[in-house]
Amino acid sequence: MVVGNPIAQSRSPRIHRLFAEQSGEDISYDSKLVERGEFDWVAEDFFASGGKGINITAPFKQDAYRFAHRLSSGARTAGAVNTLAIEAEGEVVGHNTDGVGLVADLMRQDQPLKDQKILILGAGGAVRGVLEPLLKTRPTKLVIANRTHEKALQLAKGFAGYGSIEACPMDKLGSQGFDLIINGTSASLAGQAIALPREILADNSFCYDMVYACEPTAFMQWAADSGAKSSDGLGMLVGQAAESFRIWRGVSVDIVKVIATLRAEMLNEQS
Ligand code: ATR
Repeated sequence: MVVGNPIAQSRSPRIHRLFAEQSGEDISYDSKLVERGEFDWVAEDFFASGGKGINITAPFKQDAYRFAHRLSSGARTAGAVNTLAIEAEGEVVGHNTDGVGLVADLMRQDQPLKDQKILILGAGGAVRGVLEPLLKTRPTKLVIANRTHEKALQLAKGFAGYGSIEACPMDKLGSQGFDLIINGTSASLAGQAIALPREILADNSFCYDMVYACEPTAFMQWAADSGAKSSDGLGMLVGQAAESFRIWRGVSVDIVKVIATLRAEMLNEQS
């Protein structure tokens, strides 16, 4: 199941049903609205009744982190858990599959990462969750820029051991071009645009918004207006779900087909 608050908008049940159809597995996967402060007993009850795995979305990723008996190294570094899996001995392990999902989707879109200059906007939980997998791809450098610069500085300091990472104040970004610009802020969710200088775009920059939407987000619109290619984060959503599915079922699924199905369904809902 997937838990969150709110949860009605979650596409995870649909995604996991599509994975199950593809792999011929028989699964049951629902969504559950959980009140703040009630995560622990909901999760305990779920596993006690024979449940195998839980996906966790806002605002419970920290609760799930604390709840897990053991953490994968990725979850420990991210400081948040989006996937809980019960093992044979009854031990509940916490994973974070967001970064794997992001990297998988960037690769699907033929975006190189090794030896690239990457800019990531934002310094909240969403960004923290993807930094280690991004740094593992060995970019030339990864720059974090955030409205509150202090938070970007702290993240860059905390992840310095994983690769070339630095923080840059938003108003000092202008002098360098980036191959890949990732929007990890929650600005798109609120329909807000971030003021960005065009100089951060290089010749062939790719702009990726971690938020998914039917209509281009303000960030994607900015990219289009500046002549850059862009993508929303639907593929990341499917990619992180595929990694959860692999952890639970030991089966790797093809995300390309599922992304296409979801995209078509989203467009249908809109019309
Ligand atoms: P999440 O879990 O989605 O990362 P979060 O931890 O609340 O949520 O972080 C939200 C991020 O989006 C922060 O980096 C925030 O910037 P601040 O640290 O300055 O608050 C950023 N953010 C939200 N709205 C924004 C906006 N309108 N412009 C720029 N950054 C914004």
